[in-house]
Amino acid sequence: MSSTATPTAPDRYHYDRQQRLFHWLMAAIIFTAIGLGVWAAFLEPGTSPRREILDIHKSLGMTALVLVVLRLVYRLLAGEPLYRNAPPALTHLAARLAHLALYGLMFFMPLTGYLFSASGNYSLPWFGLFSWPRLLPLDKARALLGESLHYWGAWAIGAVLTLHVLAVAWHVLVRKDEVLERMLPGK
Ligand code: HEM
Ligand code: HEM
Repeated sequence: MSSTATPTAPDRYHYDRQQRLFHWLMAAIIFTAIGLGVWAAFLEPGTSPRREILDIHKSLGMTALVLVVLRLVYRLLAGEPLYRNAPPALTHLAARLAHLALYGLMFFMPLTGYLFSASGNYSLPWFGLFSWPRLLPLDKARALLGESLHYWGAWAIGAVLTLHVLAVAWHVLVRKDEVLERMLPGK
């Protein structure tokens, strides 16, 4: 290569600061939303504290929707870090598919929640500060569809997340490789 070539960015082995912030902030939001959603599902509709729990659940869920849009744009611009030791092709493919599924579900869950709540004329609060615009007219059938999609999506995100966390545990405990470090502050 000639000495006048444009210098390339140094190799990067960690997700950058913004990507780590998006990942861990959204992980906390989504775990909390799942916990509150499951709790609410066991409580009597229309009563307290189910209504209050769902208001926080919806506020967290809509926050996740805004964050995942920003996160995806950033991810497409910033790319992903290199591996010091590339994983076997099949492991890499499995990780990519799981990450893709998680990105998809991070959109699917809030959108079906919104579909359900907006079409059913239920509240759409954001931590008591404002209400999200209701872009859909009242439609009971659409609300029921949204509810059912949200319910099955909840099982799907629960299953993929279980695999995601078990996979990380396997990398840390069995393979003892760099995978978890990629999402932790770099040295
Ligand atoms: C990352 C986003 C979200 C996740 C992971 C999530 C997850 C869940 C889970 C696990 C449940 C319990 C299972 C069920 O009954 O369906 C649930 C229930 C519920 N979610 Fe979400 N949710 C999210 C966003 C939203 C949003 C944005 C809304 C509304 C604006 C919403 C509205 C609801 C409602 C009303 C229920 C109660 C359903 C019922 O008991 O019939 N969710 N959610
Ligand atoms: C204790 C919980 C969690 C741990 C230990 C964890 C750990 C990790 C690690 C180590 C990576 C990097 C994998 C690699 O480089 O191949 C990663 C990536 C990822 N995680 Fe998690 N994670 C957790 C929770 C979550 C949650 C709740 C979500 C969202 C629902 C999530 C979504 C993702 C996504 C989408 C990626 C790919 C990032 C990208 O390439 O942009 N994770 N996670």
